[in-house]
Amino acid sequence: METSDHAPIPLCEPNLNGREKAYMAEAVDSNWLSNGSFLTRFERQLADYTGAAHVIGVCNGTSALQAALTLAGVEKGDLVLVPDLTFVATANAVKYLGADPVMVDIDPATWLMDLDLLLDFLEHRTYLTNAGCFLRENHRRVSAIVPVHLLGNVCEMDRLSAIAAAFSLRVVEDAACSLGSFRNGQHSGTFGSMGTMSFNSNKIITTAGGGAILTNSDILAKRARHLITQAKSHATEYIHNDLGYNFRLVNPLAAMGCAQMEQLPSFLKTKKEIAAHYRHEFMELGATFQQLAPGTESNYWHPAILVDGSRELIAALASENIETRPLWTPIHTLRVFRNDLFVSLENISSSVSKRGMMLPCSTSISNDQLERVCSTVRNLLHNQSIKF
Ligand SMILES: Cc1ncc(COP(=O)(O)O)c(C=O)c1O
Repeated sequence: METSDHAPIPLCEPNLNGREKAYMAEAVDSNWLSNGSFLTRFERQLADYTGAAHVIGVCNGTSALQAALTLAGVEKGDLVLVPDLTFVATANAVKYLGADPVMVDIDPATWLMDLDLLLDFLEHRTYLTNAGCFLRENHRRVSAIVPVHLLGNVCEMDRLSAIAAAFSLRVVEDAACSLGSFRNGQHSGTFGSMGTMSFNSNKIITTAGGGAILTNSDILAKRARHLITQAKSHATEYIHNDLGYNFRLVNPLAAMGCAQMEQLPSFLKTKKEIAAHYRHEFMELGATFQQLAPGTESNYWHPAILVDGSRELIAALASENIETRPLWTPIHTLRVFRNDLFVSLENISSSVSKRGMMLPCSTSISNDQLERVCSTVRNLLHNQSIKF
């Protein structure tokens, strides 16, 4: 049997201690499964919370991105700007449409897409015509940009939107991990033409698998609902006027989401406390934290630090039953994306990724467990040659 001082501490567990079971049972009992009142309610809760005029429930964050990029007019052969440090889904969604991502390096402090590099690339390597923005070297169209609000940190959307407008680019925000994050009082995912979210089980709220599209446009919202329900254009006949997807979120999972939304304020409070705890403990040891972009009120979804011996520390903590993870692998190094463009001066994404590690942050983590993570790290630093 495991003693509590050696019991596993998971990286980021879901917390289903609210009305999840009751609402899901209600959904099942109602016999409304593919659609239903919980889906409508969940979408309304998200819209009320984020201030988006429309929220459309989708089966996961990756599909939400694929649908949003389709609606943004991304076509086969296009190029789409994405940050080099993100979960692979951001770049995969571009490939699903037959387009290719152009990876832009990140800012070393915020770990978000470097907007100076982005602007420099657009100014020097593309040209504009009435038909849009094109890459000088091969005349491929650059049609959109996908800023990612990494780990809850919100991109400087006013500057990014101005750049996008100047180069005729549509903006689809990947807000997969930033429910509860605001920039100057405006919720992430509501700045671009569309934003997308994920409710995967490690996210700040979960529906097991799920996602959403946010938009302030009535037209895009209508088209999004149509596209994710097989583009059926007749109430009873099977007439489909477009190539649609089967991407909608189902009612029992939306029921879980309704219960999770009720707990969002307490989850946010706990995440903030966890982040403050690590910051207090590890800053004085010399760890580097992600710096919030100006104006960001973060949801502190997932604390992460940069450590020279990150892989050794991850392995040493694993042997103490404490789960940590590296940050994502830079997209430009992955096999699928190796022939795609990487816009960079100093390959910051690789150095951040190499040194990065994500710390345990379940909202159910106890103070004793948090303290165990910190004291184990302190001891490892003291006794071994792991350096911050
Ligand atoms: C930045 C980012 N984009 C997209 C996704 C994809 O979301 P999902 O796993 O719900 O498909 C995730 C998370 O999993 C993510 O972290």
